[in-house]
Amino acid sequence: MIKNIARAQPLQAQVRLARRRLFRGTTLAALFSVFALYVAWHESHGTDVSRSDELPITQAHADDASQTPAPAAAGNGGAAGVAGGDLVKRGEYLARAGDCVACHTADKSRPFAGGLPINTPFGTIVTPNITPDPDTGIGQWTDADFLRAMHEGIGKGGERLYPAFPYAEYTKVTDQDVLAIRAYLNTLTPIHYAPPANSLKFPFNQRWLMGFWNMFNFTEGRFVPDPKQSAEWNRGAYLVEGLAHCEECHTPRNITQGLKSDSRFSGAVQAGWHAYNITRDKNSGVGTWTDDELVAYLSTGAAPGRANAAGPMGEVINDSTQYLTKEDLGSIVTYLRTVPAISGGESRPRDQWGNPADDVTALRGTKVNAVNGAQLFVANCATCHNWTGQGVGASAPGAYPSLIHNSTVGASDANNLALVILHGVRRTTKQADILMPAFGPQLTDDQIAAITNYVTKQFGNPQSTLTADQIAQLRMQQ
Ligand code: HEC
Ligand code: HEC
Ligand code: HEC
Repeated sequence: MIKNIARAQPLQAQVRLARRRLFRGTTLAALFSVFALYVAWHESHGTDVSRSDELPITQAHADDASQTPAPAAAGNGGAAGVAGGDLVKRGEYLARAGDCVACHTADKSRPFAGGLPINTPFGTIVTPNITPDPDTGIGQWTDADFLRAMHEGIGKGGERLYPAFPYAEYTKVTDQDVLAIRAYLNTLTPIHYAPPANSLKFPFNQRWLMGFWNMFNFTEGRFVPDPKQSAEWNRGAYLVEGLAHCEECHTPRNITQGLKSDSRFSGAVQAGWHAYNITRDKNSGVGTWTDDELVAYLSTGAAPGRANAAGPMGEVINDSTQYLTKEDLGSIVTYLRTVPAISGGESRPRDQWGNPADDVTALRGTKVNAVNGAQLFVANCATCHNWTGQGVGASAPGAYPSLIHNSTVGASDANNLALVILHGVRRTTKQADILMPAFGPQLTDDQIAAITNYVTKQFGNPQSTLTADQIAQLRMQQ
């Protein structure tokens, strides 16, 4: 996907590519239809191909749910809570770790009431309302219903949920933690709001087909600690593989949109944004970062001299990881360090490119040209990032970062850089309110391409360039 965006292609090749893609889409649809017939046949003949949608929830879960919510789990509990108030607090913490608000909020004035459209290759899925409203939310759900949704990806009416809801990860979360989240959600103001319907094409609008997706891509079951590893490692694994669902963005997907288990954390592109390789590989991943830098990045969104967080990662930090305790962030890093290194072929780390601009004469005296990258940079970016690219404020919280030794500028594609120019950066943490304005509205695709290519050439990886057409494609992504 990156390659398609990042490399200009002659028209003929593009047409061929489009045809091939169309062909692949049709093949996939045909395959699914055959699957559909196969499952229908099996179900009508009563064989147990997969769990039926009508199947009642397992007894174990029903038993669990009928007990009064248990105190914090001994092993994975984090902040231990016993009384109701503590349970709700713990639930709030865990809901943040799971970043429920990111997907279930479309309008900040209606938190958790859903309505956010999620684009998938198969159409658009709109998130449901999970406030306790009895008619449009989950007010009438039992705890057992809630557990089944989180652990099995099955809705209240027995229908299969789409994996855009990360139940493939949430299945690892203990019953106690899921019920703590439920207890917290119960305390939210009920919001009466029915989000618009999904728009998925046949056969993807057939929910029961997700049974197939599950067969290939889903293993139901709680996290099993590894006794050979430390408690810290296990806590990190529990969070990363479960609630924090880092892999949803950082692991590439197979043809059925399941996560590729042999390339975990090696980086993937979604809606144009490249969620970088975060394995411990020294050139392609984050192997040269210190533990403190990783913790700083996850708690503030800035690791000076390495990276800043924009786009989807900015949101993860804004809504989720900044609220995690230092211990939990430390555990996440401990676990990430042990994930196998995967090389993407890069010859040096993203954050080890670039030198300050030292030739101001290049910017002077030339005829003013609306698409001169250097001039556009001075006019639009230099007030904050300095004409040398070295930023202002060094590593202080809220500094205007240096563009030299910045992972987005040194990456092997310029997608995120262009998206940062298009959409700006906005993040609020305990340390600072971060704001870079969006330039999408006032600059043309030509101008953004010119700035992007100037910035990568001058301050980053000069091989990463984009054409105006590619900027236009990125602009349409959101
Ligand atoms: C990455 C996006 C995403 C995140 C994060 C997310 N959800 Fe969802 N959730 C969805 C989508 C999409 C659906 C609808 C799936 C469908 O229609 O099949 C959904 C459905 C649900 C449902 C079923 C509701 C219904 O009416 O059927 C529940 C319950 C739920 N989510 C709870 C949560 C909780 C609790 C969290 C946080 C721990 C969470 N979700 C985090 C995307 C997300
Ligand atoms: C919603 C998608 C999404 C999720 C979930 C997500 N990330 Fe990211 N992550 C990204 C994107 C996109 C970037 C690149 C951000 C940028 O260019 O500013 C990124 C960047 C990073 C980086 C910086 C890498 C670099 O070299 O700049 C680290 C470290 C990271 N993520 C760790 C995590 C961890 C740990 C989790 C789970 C707690 C996580 N991410 C969850 C999308 C995501
Ligand atoms: C008003 C000040 C301001 C202007 C003007 C500005 N920026 Fe920024 N820029 C920021 C701030 C603030 C951040 C975010 C710092 C952080 O994440 O802590 C940022 C971040 C960045 C990043 C890092 C993003 C990442 O994900 O790592 C890049 C690259 C960048 N800006 C490039 C540009 C370019 C190119 C321009 C001109 C088109 C520009 N900026 C104009 C203030 C500005």
